[in-house]
Formats: sequence, structure tokens, C-alpha cells
Amino acid sequence: MCHTMTRISSLLWLCHVCVFNISVAKVCTLQNSFHPGFMAEGDFVIGGIFPLHYNQEMPDLNCTYKPPPVKCNGFDPRAFRWAQTMRLAVEEINHSSELLTNYTLGYKILDSCAYPLTGQRAALAVLNGMSEDDSPMCSNASPLLAVIGESGSAQSIVVSRILQPFRIPMISYFSSCACFSDRKKYPTFFRVIPNDDYQVKAIAQLLVRFNWTWVGLVRGDHEYGRFAVQGLLKELQGTKVCVAYQEMIPLLYNRRRGLEIMEVMRSSSAKVVVVFSAEGEMTPFLKDYMTQNITGIQWVASEAWVTASVFSGSEYYPHLGGTIGFGIKKGYITRLGDYLQTVNPAMYPDNPLVQELWEALYGCNAIPSSPSRLPLCSGHELQLPQHSAYMNISSPRVAYNVYKAVYAIAHSLHNLLLCQPGSGPFENNSCAQNNNIYPWQLQYYIQEVTFNIAGEEVNFDLKGDSVPYYDVINWQRGTAGNIEFVTVGLYDGTKPTGEELMIQEDRIMWARHQSEVPVSVCGASCPPGSRKAVRRGEPVCCFDCVPCDSGKVSNQTNSIECTFCPDEFWSNKDRTACISKEVEFLAYDSLGITLTVISVVGASLTIAVCGIFFYHRNTAIVRVNNSELSFFILFALVLCFLCSLVFIGEPTAWSCMLRHTIFSITFSLCISCILGKTLVVLAAFTATRPGDNVMKWLGPRQQRAIIFSCTLMQVIICAAWLIGAPPQPFRNTQYEHSKIIIECSVGSTLAFWCVLGYIGLQACLCFVLAFLARNLPGNFNEAKFITFSMLIFCAVWLAFIPAYISSPGKYANAVESFAILASSFGLLFCLFASKCYIILLKPEKNTKQHLMGKEKK
Ligand code: TRP
Repeated sequence: MCHTMTRISSLLWLCHVCVFNISVAKVCTLQNSFHPGFMAEGDFVIGGIFPLHYNQEMPDLNCTYKPPPVKCNGFDPRAFRWAQTMRLAVEEINHSSELLTNYTLGYKILDSCAYPLTGQRAALAVLNGMSEDDSPMCSNASPLLAVIGESGSAQSIVVSRILQPFRIPMISYFSSCACFSDRKKYPTFFRVIPNDDYQVKAIAQLLVRFNWTWVGLVRGDHEYGRFAVQGLLKELQGTKVCVAYQEMIPLLYNRRRGLEIMEVMRSSSAKVVVVFSAEGEMTPFLKDYMTQNITGIQWVASEAWVTASVFSGSEYYPHLGGTIGFGIKKGYITRLGDYLQTVNPAMYPDNPLVQELWEALYGCNAIPSSPSRLPLCSGHELQLPQHSAYMNISSPRVAYNVYKAVYAIAHSLHNLLLCQPGSGPFENNSCAQNNNIYPWQLQYYIQEVTFNIAGEEVNFDLKGDSVPYYDVINWQRGTAGNIEFVTVGLYDGTKPTGEELMIQEDRIMWARHQSEVPVSVCGASCPPGSRKAVRRGEPVCCFDCVPCDSGKVSNQTNSIECTFCPDEFWSNKDRTACISKEVEFLAYDSLGITLTVISVVGASLTIAVCGIFFYHRNTAIVRVNNSELSFFILFALVLCFLCSLVFIGEPTAWSCMLRHTIFSITFSLCISCILGKTLVVLAAFTATRPGDNVMKWLGPRQQRAIIFSCTLMQVIICAAWLIGAPPQPFRNTQYEHSKIIIECSVGSTLAFWCVLGYIGLQACLCFVLAFLARNLPGNFNEAKFITFSMLIFCAVWLAFIPAYISSPGKYANAVESFAILASSFGLLFCLFASKCYIILLKPEKNTKQHLMGKEKK
């Protein structure tokens, strides 16, 4: 800490001290000097701060001796090229016949070592002179009109804070941090690079576009990384993208932390990793990464490293190939290539930076006198891959920004000098004094400047920002196995929302040399037929797929919800579409056909019996047993058998009405006949004498009348039913949701049970009477059979009720027609089997004597 303080105070050696007290000036000494890398005199001097080294050694914190000069490590040829671009621009302007014609620009270029503290030192050094004597501080004019710099936002913040009190404007060529948009905090800050607000928007759109819903974020430990991640998180809110992890690479890289981050990357299913960082910390991080054998990572690079040629070596391709990101706008600087060639140790024998450049490019020692372990340069050095970091001028991006920044200052100065006294922008319409320009006066002109450079218009908005434009850059394999930065699209922030991003997807080569878009999701996508179910306590992007319930469908991948099918529809097996529900009724399928066959067989059997009886109508057994009633019963039974047929087939208005009515009337008829018969039997045997009154009252006519009236009763009930509330076909969707069951609603339940009850009543009555008559004498007492048949009849129908109520859909009909058939068969067999047996097989027993039981054995 004390170290830092000493340095600040030692360098803060400011003008007013000298101005107000000349005698003090003598004791005013520069405590620590810091030499510019390059400098040139001129009428107006501008400063340039570049990160000519990647990093510096940690300062020594011991305060018991004078702190040694800072040691910077890792020469950065790319930043050196930027610095040279600034010199080129100044020289061009000085030679120009249009800009600043009678004036020259000077510059001081300092190294910040990509470190905020050193940037601060550079800022102070650029304000101070090199020594007390040649310091312009003590003249009236400002020593410095503007500063071009810095690169990293973290350094720019510090530099801006130092320049602010003096109102010295600065134009940054690479500091994109959104934080600079706060005009109150950074009133003198301008930049020729878009604000990161746009970049994070672009990255968010990219993630959404490629459906990367589960991504990792890695950033460096600086304002740039912090604000960019913050901005991206904000931008991702409300999109389908979730962040799997956020990691920070320490400013001074350490391997243990790096490996921890890699472990997170390896274990996460987020294959897309967005990195807001720069070469400084990325280089050691990636070196470790390449030893870790982590596969399938798709990098999304921020503008800070997406065009960093340090990573273009072929050793990086297997790990970084396919990287995609947004690069800042490129431009073309005609003379840059030639100019860079002129920078060599021969031209600058005393410049340590040039020597370092040579060491970095060719790995040799360019200056014989200097102490170096490297072999001496021969002058015919081979071009090494590192060379491209310096000489790569095919598409300068940051260098182009530097170039624009210098021109912006030159144009502003030019405008300032053109000011007509009396119509100037300052107090009382005054102009700036040409020989004593204040930096704040220049700031005014920078804010207003608009000019054209290589066909591009340059200006600054009220926040000092410039136009948001990015190239989409994809890292593809070059011919030599190296990485080439291929432009595959663009992002134009001035376009209306939604149209900013334009990508030629077919030109993109993804990570691991693949042409399919990599997948980076937490939960695999849910196919149609299922829906997402968010896991508790996890981000919304992590979900399980749950199949839709039956009756619900989802027809899109990744549906959030399954939707109900409309009423008459039901989900198909896969739950991907609604199909019309299956309609169910007792059709002529196997069940229907069986029932039909049984009923036809029953009816035929009955007719056969009828035939036998008719044929043998004159035999005793037929005559004794009241042949007329027998025929009636047989006729009714035929109808009973046949009426089960109306229960088969699709219910229609007619068949519904017929079903229960025909059934109940025929059964009523049948049982009435049996009842008649029972009465006759009872009467015949209870009559004491022949010709008794009872028999008179039960003659054939009366019998018919009884049958008729008993049946009529049922007919009346049925008529009332049909008129009042007739049964109707009814589409039952409730019983089974997947089917529509077409059934006959009973209309009136009361009527239904009345009808059944009436039959039941008849049957019971019949049963009781027959039961009373069962023991009456006679070899062929029909009462026994009638008792038995009624017993069966009642049993069948009692069993029918619970079966009917509990059977679903079409089975209810089947049960009913089964009950009809079973009871009909019961009646047929009980009443007629034994008679047919005697008629056909035992004709000898078919005599009156035998039947009356009077036959002598
Ligand atoms: N746009 C970055 C920034 O604003 C670029 C950058 C340059 C950078 N140097 C850096 C980022 C060093 C991180 C570290 O900071």
C-alpha cells in the first residue's frame, strides 16, 4: 500500500506549485521518472497509453527501501502494433495538407503493462515531463491536450480518474465497459468502440438463436468482465437461456484456481462457455486447459479476445476451433503494413521496446550491446508464427480504432483552430487561444466532431459512445492448421429490434470441426407428447419430461403444457394429436354375432317345438295341457328370443324406443300366458266337482281376456313411458374418457323400473300360484315345471340387475340381451323339454291315462 502511495505522490508534481512560487520550483523534483516508449515533439502533444506488456510482477510491498521500478513481463506485439498505428496516424496528419496545416502534432506513448496501477503511473507520467527542465508544466499551456487510451476498461477507469481533474479528454480504442456510459463519473471519456451493452445483447441473441439454454460464464477479474457478465445476466432474464455457472479467472493467474474452473467446466452439461476476458489471463488459462483433455466445449468469445492472434497457432485449433464471438468493426489503413516494416532495431537502436519486439518475433537479441541470453539476430530472420501478432494487418480492428481516435482528435483540433473570433462556442462567443488551448476546450470540439474516415462516419453520442456494429467471427482451420478468423455475420445495433443479428449459419464451423450446431442444454428436449416439468430448486432450464396424461396432447417439442383435447376427441397413443374418440356400442362383432346366433337358435328351437306341438296337436299331452295357451307361450317366446336382437347394433331413436318396450311387452305376454296356465291348472285341480263354477270362469275366453289384460297393463305403462320420457340414444363421454359410448338413456328411470317390476310381479305371482299347485295329483302336473321355470326366470333377472348396473357401455346391452336369452331358454326348456321328450321319444306315455296318473302299473 505504502508503495503505491509513494508513487502517486511522487508523480503528482503539478504545475500550480511552480507557477505560484518560483522558489518552490527549485525544490520541486521528480521523484520517479517513467520514460515514454515513443515520443515526438509537436505544437500539440497527445498522450497514448498501450498495454505493451501482458502483465507485470507483483509490486514489492516492503517500505524499508526505495521501491524498484516496476517489472513488466510478456511483450505484446499486438499492442505494439496499435502504438505504431498511433504514430502512423500522427505522422499522416502532420504531413497532411488539409488537417492542421500549419501545426504539428506530438505524442508520448506509454506502457500500462495491462495493469491498472501501472496505467495510473503512465497517466501521471504523460502529464509530467520527463524531467524538471523539459517539463512543459510550468508554461501556461497544458502539457497535454488529450490522451488516446487505454485498452482495458480497468486501466481506462484509473486513467480517466486522473485526467478528470484537469479536464483532459481521453478517447479509448478498446474499453467497452458499459460503466463508462455514466457521464457523471467519466465526463471526459470518449471511445471509438461500442458500449458492451450492445455486445451482451448480441451474445444473448446468439445464445437464444442457437438454442443454447444452458451456458457457463467465465470472466476475468476486472470491470470489463464484471459489467459484461452483469449485463448478460440481465439480458438473459426472460429468455429461455439459463446460466449453469459463473467463474472468475484471477487477475494474476494461478493454476490451482484455473484447474478448479476447468473441473466445473468438465462436470457441467453446459457445453457452451461465454468468456469475457483478454489474452492476459486467457493465455495461461488456455495453456492449462489444453492439458486437461476437456472435450466438446464451444467457446463464445467476447470482442476482447475473439481476434487475438496469439491464439491463432495450430496447437490451439483442436481446443479452440469453432469459437464464435463478436469482433469490433474492422477498417483498412493503407500505409500500416509499410509503416510497421520500418520499425526495426536498426532504426531504433536505443529503444528497448523495439528490441523486445524483435525478441518476441524472432527469438533473438537485436542489440549487440544489451545483456541478453538470446543469440544475436542475423538480420535475415525467418518469419515465425508470432510474427503475425505484429504484422497481421489484413483486417485491423483495434488498430483501426486507434487510427480513428487520433483522427478524431486531429479533426477536433482542426475545428477548434478554425474558430472565428466572435462566433466561438465559449463564453461571450469567444474562441480558444491557439497558443494556449485548454483541454476542456478541445473536449467541447471532440463532443461535436463528425468526420469521415475510409467512408465511415465517426462521431460520439452524448455519452461519448460510438456506433454499435460488430462482425460475427468464427475460428476456422486455415490451410496450415492454424486458426483463421472468418467473418460469418454481423450485428448492427442501429437496426430495429430483432433484425440486428445476421448470421450465415452454413458458413460456421463449430467446435470439434463439426457442421452441426452444438447442443448445450440442461434437460434434453421434450418430444411432442410430453411436457417440461421443472425440477424443484433448479433453474427453469433444467427439467424432466413428463408424458402427457391421456386425453391431453402436446404437439411441439419442449411444450410447457399439455392441452386438453376437445370434447369429442381424445389423445392418440403417443399423445401428439387429438383423434376423434372411438364410438362404442354393441355392434355385430364377436359378442354381437354370438348373441344373434343364440337368439336365432332359440327362436328356431321355439318354432320347432311349436311345429312338433302342432303336428301332435291331437295327442293327449298337447290337449291336456291347454294347447291354446301353449301356442301362445311359444309365440311369445319366439318374440322374446327375437327381441334380444334390437339390443344389437348402433342405438337409434327407434331402436332405443323399441328395446325396452318390445322386450317388456313380449315378456309380459309370455308370463301372462304362463300365469293363465297356472290359474287353469289351479282351478282344474281345486274344483271339487266337474262343471264347478271356477272352471266356468276360466274358459278359453276368460283366459284370453286375462292374458290380454295383463299384457295391456304393460302396454299402457310402455305407452306412457314413450309419450312421457322416451328412451333416447345418448353419447356417454363420461364413463370412459377415451370413448364415446352410444347407449340408450332410459328416459324415465321410474318407467324403466316399473316395467321391470311389473314383469317381476307377474313372475312372482306366477311362481306363488304354481308353487301352491305343485303337489296336486297327476302324472303330468305342469305346476312343477312352471314353478321351476319361474324360479329360473327370477334367478336370471335377479342376477341381471347387479350385472346390468355394473357393466360398462356396450356390455350393459350384452348383459341385458343375455338375460333375455337365458330366461327365454329357461322358460322354453322347463316348460317344453319334457313334453317334447314324451311326444317324440316316449309316445307310449302320451295317453290320457298315463297323464292322469290312473294307469295301472
Ligand atoms: N473491451 C475490453 C475492455 O474494455 C478489452 C480489453 C483490453 C481487456 N484489454 C483487456 C479486457 C484486458 C480485459 C483485460 O476492457
